[in-house]
Amino acid sequence: MPVAILVGGQWGDEGKGKVIDILAGKTDMVIRSQGGNNAGHTVVHDGITHKFHLIPSGILFPTCTCVIGNGTVLDPRVLLQEIDGLADQGIDSKHLIISDRAHMIMPYHPIFDRLEEEARGDDRLGTTWRGIGPAYSDKIRRIGFRIGDLTKPRFMEKKLDFVLRLKNEILRDLYHTDEFDEKEILDEYAAIGERLAPYIQDIFPVVQDALRADQNVLLEGAQGALLDLDFGSYPYVTSSSPTAGGALTGSGIPPREVDMTIGVFKAYTTRVGYGPLPTELLGDEGDVLRELGAEFGTTTGRARRVGWFDGVVASYSARLNGVDSVALTKLDVLSEYEILKVCTGYFHKGEYHQHPMSNISHLKHAEPVYEELAGWQTSIADAKTWEDLPPNCRRYVERLSELIGAPCDIISVGASRDQTIVRRLPY
Ligand code: GDP
Ligand code: IMO
Ligand code: MG
Repeated sequence: MPVAILVGGQWGDEGKGKVIDILAGKTDMVIRSQGGNNAGHTVVHDGITHKFHLIPSGILFPTCTCVIGNGTVLDPRVLLQEIDGLADQGIDSKHLIISDRAHMIMPYHPIFDRLEEEARGDDRLGTTWRGIGPAYSDKIRRIGFRIGDLTKPRFMEKKLDFVLRLKNEILRDLYHTDEFDEKEILDEYAAIGERLAPYIQDIFPVVQDALRADQNVLLEGAQGALLDLDFGSYPYVTSSSPTAGGALTGSGIPPREVDMTIGVFKAYTTRVGYGPLPTELLGDEGDVLRELGAEFGTTTGRARRVGWFDGVVASYSARLNGVDSVALTKLDVLSEYEILKVCTGYFHKGEYHQHPMSNISHLKHAEPVYEELAGWQTSIADAKTWEDLPPNCRRYVERLSELIGAPCDIISVGASRDQTIVRRLPY
């Protein structure tokens, strides 16, 4: 099973980091192909909690080559901090490779992210303020800087001279705020470039060699399908394509090489930031689930919005990505409930819908249709096999599987590695 794509099936934070860590031991290469340090992937390994924003979650396995693909936007300052943080823990990043085609988050991008959000007022998106949207916009406008540009000081200078004029004009005339100094940026990025140089290369031959050698390659998705720029709840989305399609363009892997797509789904629903969330639980009910699931953002620490499992979203995202195999996470969080609700459809103005509507205001006003399932009300944190799970718990998993339309091959019942039931390893 040489190439697998792993995607988030909901609005991000499904537990992708943990699932990657489970699979990485059997994987030769993990590639992050989109997003930037808006992502926060948690891996609990030997009792230590690691939070990765840019570095692929396979980094803890020295035998696993970790690639940051061309489709990402990379804040080089954050990347260095992450490499240094790992080194402090005695973890070597020698097996890290950064695509020279990956775009850089420049110092002005997070500033523009914040200023644009503030200017939107009540219509703000709730971005992570990491500069993701502005960096991808510049990539599309062809005024972005690629990490490989760090080795070309004269090119950097000439291009920044032009780009900074555009940026400073807006900062000055529209936002009435501080401008950026060209030399300061060039000096800082030149120094960073020297430190990152050993990691930067053209990944095309590296990836092609891995494919030719039939290596196990895992594409680590960031975010989730409902944050997809095209198929998510636009405009309340991120600025990349966290779907299976995005994984391919972001890494240079052709479709015919892909053997399977693994969808990671949380046993309920969460979302950070604004935008529709049809099954949202508000008030005390929301607080209870948020506390049970410790739903506070890995990147920004914001309280995540929470809700019942949304089968409409899950089925949509499974079909959109072609999910073959499901990793279901955080099932343990639901152990206290007497009754669990699962959304199987939406009503909007008397019309029944079985997939999330593209019209954002319709989606916002969608009324979920719920099915109720009996809870199991006993801890499952120590369950090691499918048979260890109480019958009501198995029924819940089976119902979710039906709604998603793919088997739950991995079931996670706690944050650590050993709290995982593997019914069938995807490869
Ligand atoms: P990612 O962005 O998809 O990698 O997910 P995050 O790391 O942002 O958020 C998932 C959180 O849930 C992390 O704190 C994980 O340590 C934790 N987690 C993952 N799987 C489980 C699980 O099965 N049960 C519980 N209780 N926590 C889990
Ligand atoms: P992982 O990989 C959850 C959300 C932000 C905001 C929207 C746009 O950990 O699952 P952006 O900064 O990307 O322009 O913000 O997307 N968002 C995430 N939510 N998990 C993530 O990543 C996210 N990355 C971005 O909260 O609503
Ligand atoms: Mg996360």
